[in-house]
Amino acid sequence: MAKTKTSFFCQNCGAQYAKWLGQCNSCSEWNTIVEEVIQKEEKRNWKQTASTKKVNKALKINDILVDKEDRISTKNNELDRVLGGGLVKGSMLLLGGEPGIGKSTLLLQIALAIPKRILYVSGEESQSQIKMRAERLNIANTNCLILTETNTQNIFRSIEEIQPDVVVIDSIQTLHTEYIDASPGSISQIRETTAELIKFAKETATPVLLIGHITKDGNIAGPKILEHMVDVVLQFEGDRNHTYRILRANKNRFGSTAEIGIYEMQSVGLREVENPSEILISQKEDDLSGTAIAATLEGIRPLMIEVQALVSTAVYGTPQRSATGYDIKRLNMLLAVLEKRAGFRLGAKDVFLNIAGGIKVDDPAIDLAVICAILSSNEDDAIPQDFCFAAEIGLAGEIRPVNRVEQRILEAEKLGFQKIFISKFNKISKTSSVIKIVKVAKVEDIYANLFA
Ligand code: TYD
Ligand code: MG
Repeated sequence: MAKTKTSFFCQNCGAQYAKWLGQCNSCSEWNTIVEEVIQKEEKRNWKQTASTKKVNKALKINDILVDKEDRISTKNNELDRVLGGGLVKGSMLLLGGEPGIGKSTLLLQIALAIPKRILYVSGEESQSQIKMRAERLNIANTNCLILTETNTQNIFRSIEEIQPDVVVIDSIQTLHTEYIDASPGSISQIRETTAELIKFAKETATPVLLIGHITKDGNIAGPKILEHMVDVVLQFEGDRNHTYRILRANKNRFGSTAEIGIYEMQSVGLREVENPSEILISQKEDDLSGTAIAATLEGIRPLMIEVQALVSTAVYGTPQRSATGYDIKRLNMLLAVLEKRAGFRLGAKDVFLNIAGGIKVDDPAIDLAVICAILSSNEDDAIPQDFCFAAEIGLAGEIRPVNRVEQRILEAEKLGFQKIFISKFNKISKTSSVIKIVKVAKVEDIYANLFA
């Protein structure tokens, strides 16, 4: 077997090196140099016998035929909705999430539920472990085949034999291809094995579902290019100490990324949560003053965040101000606005602010929730739990509009909120919402709305 030629490239600026370096000499970035294949072997293909000389023809867009039935339902409403109506034939899906969050469980559950021929390939668990898991899930199925294999060429051999309608791979980090020497999980292995799988998916119109590990900081382990290569990137998240899990689309070539799916991890697998407000109602006590929920966006993802504030009489001459997960300077500014523009005497009060869940928020849309949490604690008057807020506060005490307010409203509605407070100046194009939208212009208005 002729050896594949490799070279080292900086993933940031593209500089080429003969050997690995910690820092790129040309752009000075650290840890960006990665080994890549520059000369591929002749026979390389997912299917050894396939002709590689086929040339694609350009077609007029109107002449391209689209198969109407090109989606496969996963029999899982939450997942189908996140995907935009089911699995698209020939698409590649990547599911990321923390260890133990339930990725394998979710995909095995789906593999067992789809009434088609499914091949579930695991490089992480043995066949008997998977069988035990399937028994826990308690779904009778005879069409799902389990393979424990990590070599892609062997996987493709099994695929040719089995001719599955859907392929599940757990996980991409355990796969390796014979054509590269690097160990499984390395960047070049991940990229090459993904490329082989994509080629297979596109040529046979078979959907491939991949599980991907994530790194410490929450990104999918491996090169960023992995996320560019696949069609759909889903993130499975949640607190491992709680039973609720949220499935989000970070990228979806065939649908919107605004949808989320909610599940509950039970002893018999993941249950779809159709009415998400049950999470909010079951997790909180009724009358807690000093908390307010903000409808924020994290990157492109909507996120409902709980802001907690504690306002108490200062013990020392200089009142204390402390903020966790929020900019302290911005907190001071908001307190000054409350004092000067709205007449609240907070100058002699200690103010503590905390963003629940240890998250750090930069989105200015959280301002209104911060102010409401502070006022609620100051008045010792609780804000109803199904109210939420999305607006920025200006120096004059005016409530300013925020971007993508529709997406925030949609998320709030999805999570079961009844009322959302936004700026009077926010333009909303469609108003089919069930949630009540309250428009406010000044800090005094919100006070009158909530506490007066
Ligand atoms: P798993 O799917 O193995 O996580 P991942 O593949 O993301 O690492 O999920 C493991 C956790 O799920 C484990 O802590 C046990 C729990 N679990 C249940 O609570 N109920 C079940 O029916 C199953 C199969 C797992
Ligand atoms: Mg797993």
